[in-house]
Amino acid sequence: MQADWLIKNIHLATFDPTVAAPYGAIRDALVAVAAERILWAGPAAQAPSLDGAVVINGKGGWLTPGLIDCHTHLVYGGDRAEEFEWRLQGRSYADIAAQGGGILSTVAATRAASATQLLDSAARRLRALCAEGVTTVEIKSGYGLALDTERRMLVVARALGQQLPITVRTTFLGAHALPPQYQGDADGYIDTLVETVLPALAAEGLVDAVDVFCEGIGFSVAQCRRLFERARELGLPVKGHVEQLSYQGGARLVAEFGGLSVDHVEYLPETDLESLAQSGAVAVLLPGAFYYLQEQQKPPIAALRRWGIPMAVATDLNPGSSPMASLLLALNQACILFGLTPEEALLGATRHAAAALGLADRKGCISAGFDADMLLWDCGRPAEICYGINMQRPRHIWVGGRDV
Ligand code: NIG
Ligand code: FE
Repeated sequence: MQADWLIKNIHLATFDPTVAAPYGAIRDALVAVAAERILWAGPAAQAPSLDGAVVINGKGGWLTPGLIDCHTHLVYGGDRAEEFEWRLQGRSYADIAAQGGGILSTVAATRAASATQLLDSAARRLRALCAEGVTTVEIKSGYGLALDTERRMLVVARALGQQLPITVRTTFLGAHALPPQYQGDADGYIDTLVETVLPALAAEGLVDAVDVFCEGIGFSVAQCRRLFERARELGLPVKGHVEQLSYQGGARLVAEFGGLSVDHVEYLPETDLESLAQSGAVAVLLPGAFYYLQEQQKPPIAALRRWGIPMAVATDLNPGSSPMASLLLALNQACILFGLTPEEALLGATRHAAAALGLADRKGCISAGFDADMLLWDCGRPAEICYGINMQRPRHIWVGGRDV
């Protein structure tokens, strides 16, 4: 076999479902890379003969897939530090939003920012994720809420993927909040998204998936359904911010449309899990928002396990409910706040996160044919990646086989 390079003297946390051990672990392993992909991965003793490959000594570290942050809103203008002060004085997130603050204050700041300003501030946040070993990130629009400003956000998101060593998936979240000019006419705003905004942005190749905020302070199931119908006509997968602050039935809707993921899900009831399990959607847990908003209601982890629903973990990086540019902290929070095992948390930032982005056949596993996005960690066991707070960074990061 002809490889570009290989790494030996390592242990693998493959997260490959065909490897039965926890973490898909293979000790004393070897991985060979050719042309941006994993050519071979397995026990060193069983490796084929590999010609012409540069050999890297992993010095006994653990190799994992690159981390995937499958839910972020990291392109935005301004900040919400003032609201942070208000909330510490007792005002709730929903109350601030109802009075025109919250998401709408970030909409005003984002509309006022130039593409360059948005790019610079987002790149700072994204670099923090990259340094932790994030090699794929999802970025949502949703702070423009009009064609030109939603476009600006998505163009910036795509540009970030050109500037930094990371794969970017874009999500259209036009149904994030009701823009001021549509107050009292949510159906009219949905009409505009359905008839004009989404088709235009999709035609420009800026949209990989369509998201909604299905909530009392967001959009109703009936309104989200209309957007999902248009997404289906355009061939775009759907997902949703659902059952975050209250139960609305949004997860059921996402399941009905064969969506990629249901995100937040604190108020998801057991009765809706069967349809979710059948749909194959991933439940994306966002412990940063739960922590930051000091929520009490936890997602139904035991029931999700019982129904075999794959769980992902993401930062939800945004200026309001989760100003947190650390996926490693989210993994720790998922263990401490939600009771995930370190293996579940890491699956949630690798294989299951890839599935939540429709990338299950390319990313999130160390296995032949997958993209060579990989991290080398100096740790004794994979659980160490979730265990400390700001105590661990990968020693090496490869994206598409390139050392970055
Ligand atoms: O995932 N719930 C809606 N969207 C974001 C919050 C966005 C914001 O507050 O700016 C979330 O929590
Ligand atoms: Fe979010």
